[in-house]
Amino acid sequence: MRFLITGTAGFIGFHLAKRLLDDGHFVVGFDGMTPYYDVGLKEARHAILARSNGFRPVIGMLEDQAALTKAAELAEPEVIVHLAAQAGVRYSLENPKAYVDANLVGSWNVLEIAKAVKPAHLLLASTSSVYGANPVVPFAESDKADEPMTLYAASKKAMEVMAHSYAHLYGIPTTAFRFFTVYGPWGRPDMALFKFVDAIEKGRPIEIYGEGQMSRDFTYIADLVEGIIRLIGVVPAEENRVTQPDVIDTLSAHAPFRVVNIGGGQPIGLMEFVETVEAAVGKPAVRKMLPMQPGDVPRTYAAAGLLEALTGYRPATSVEDGVKAFVDWYYREKAA
Ligand SMILES: NC(=O)c1ccc[n+]([C@@H]2O[C@H](COP(=O)([O-])OP(=O)(O)OC[C@H]3O[C@@H](n4cnc5c(N)ncnc54)[C@H](O)[C@@H]3O)[C@@H](O)[C@H]2O)c1
Repeated sequence: MRFLITGTAGFIGFHLAKRLLDDGHFVVGFDGMTPYYDVGLKEARHAILARSNGFRPVIGMLEDQAALTKAAELAEPEVIVHLAAQAGVRYSLENPKAYVDANLVGSWNVLEIAKAVKPAHLLLASTSSVYGANPVVPFAESDKADEPMTLYAASKKAMEVMAHSYAHLYGIPTTAFRFFTVYGPWGRPDMALFKFVDAIEKGRPIEIYGEGQMSRDFTYIADLVEGIIRLIGVVPAEENRVTQPDVIDTLSAHAPFRVVNIGGGQPIGLMEFVETVEAAVGKPAVRKMLPMQPGDVPRTYAAAGLLEALTGYRPATSVEDGVKAFVDWYYREKAA
């Protein structure tokens, strides 16, 4: 199949594109190589993808409609997966404009491309952050998700609802997935696992927010990619509306549009996570306990029932195995 994927130099886009290329698909990868974190890491990911004959990189910004149009013409995609974004919860307090530019204007540009191209399926990356500080767990897709705690979360929720309007008006079958703290090899240097391992290795203290009282539902990258690949094949339509009594399907009554969590539903506390990282690195961390940061949410916890009902799959890699895979990669890269 022919894919247009945005964000292929990023952590998740890289892994998804790699899997699709290994399976023999054609992928045009669109990415702006933004300097939010080490561009060298992004270039290294694209260099690996470039070893596949089926990969065509297009470097450009989402805000640049002409660049996106060029990528779409090259791809003639049956499926569009939109992963490029300004990510990061805390950075949205420092640089809100980056979120408006990439996640609002950029995502709207992707919707315009989809309107023109009419792919069989458009898939978009949203986030567990849209659940804000909801007290009821696990977070189900049908829960209220309109009290975001950061502009990051607000921009992703806005993308979801903009996409619903396009799905309704132009009949674009659209799935918006909500990811839960994704981690693994080639992961992001701004996220906890990378920062913890790096700090332990360099003898620096690790910063533990919320005095260690927060919990997160971690999703291993290979599990996430498996969930995405399976959802690509479940094009939102009445024929696949879930009728299981214990699961609420989010398939819209007004559009071929659905929201699906991708998470394992096995949250762990931050201190247990720190201990898991220490065990994998084989060294203790120096712990610096800090209060919750503005915009932080106390917990995330995915209801995985809808994903499972639609695909027969739920993420299952243990945090121990996943953290070990990251640590192995980290030391391999350092040695290289
Ligand atoms: N990693 C997680 O835990 C997580 C959790 C929830 C949601 N998400 C979402 O998943 C998607 C992928 O996340 P990731 O972890 O791979 O992040 P990432 O930062 O590694 O990848 C995003 C990519 O998008 C590119 N990009 C950013 N702004 C751009 C712009 N304006 N124009 C063109 N390219 C641009 C960046 O260069 C980067 O390569 C994002 O939409 C993110 O919000 C990630």
